[in-house]
Amino acid sequence: MDITIRPVQSRDLLQLLRVEAQAAPKSQLAAWELFLLSIRYPENFLVAEGEEIVGYVVFTPKGHLVSLVVARRHRRQGIGTRLVEEVIRRSPGIPLRLEVRVGNHGARRFYERLGFGQVEKMESYYADGEDGLLLERAVPEGETREE
Ligand SMILES: CC(C)(COP(=O)(O)OP(=O)(O)OC[C@H]1O[C@@H](n2cnc3c(N)ncnc32)[C@H](O)[C@@H]1OP(=O)(O)O)[C@@H](O)C(=O)NCCC(=O)NCCS
Repeated sequence: MDITIRPVQSRDLLQLLRVEAQAAPKSQLAAWELFLLSIRYPENFLVAEGEEIVGYVVFTPKGHLVSLVVARRHRRQGIGTRLVEEVIRRSPGIPLRLEVRVGNHGARRFYERLGFGQVEKMESYYADGEDGLLLERAVPEGETREE
């Protein structure tokens, strides 16, 4: 399946909710949170679309990766990697940061492969008491301009 990565549009919200429902083990965002993010960061809210929307990523202009989800049956096909690579391309010279649950081993492995390293462990960071890890991807030498 050909996948296109493009900025979010208001008509995407319903499909995004279907993807978000499969976000576990990440904490799920509510419909209003997705809606507000799409208004606040329209250029920093990217969707991966095949025949339907199969994933999305939201990041701030300062490089905070707010949320990333790929629909369950489309995982391990490189779509998450493509989304993060697009964030990297659109954030020239900016180190990327994010929080991940300690127990989210799949995501931890995924980010490690993309060059993220642990900066800090945050005790009981999540509402259910689980610890969080702050991860950062430093900007590699020479990777400073959008191409
Ligand atoms: C994390 C997530 C976005 C990865 O998306 P994806 O499209 O499946 O990732 P990719 O196919 O690009 O994976 C690239 C590599 O990362 C690693 N990886 C990805 N998911 C993994 C998993 N569950 N377990 C172990 N390694 C994993 C693998 O090395 C993989 O390469 P491989 O498939 O050739 O072995 C997806 O699993 C997801 O949506 N999870 C639920 C939400 C979530 O946890 N988001 C991040 C929270 S901060």
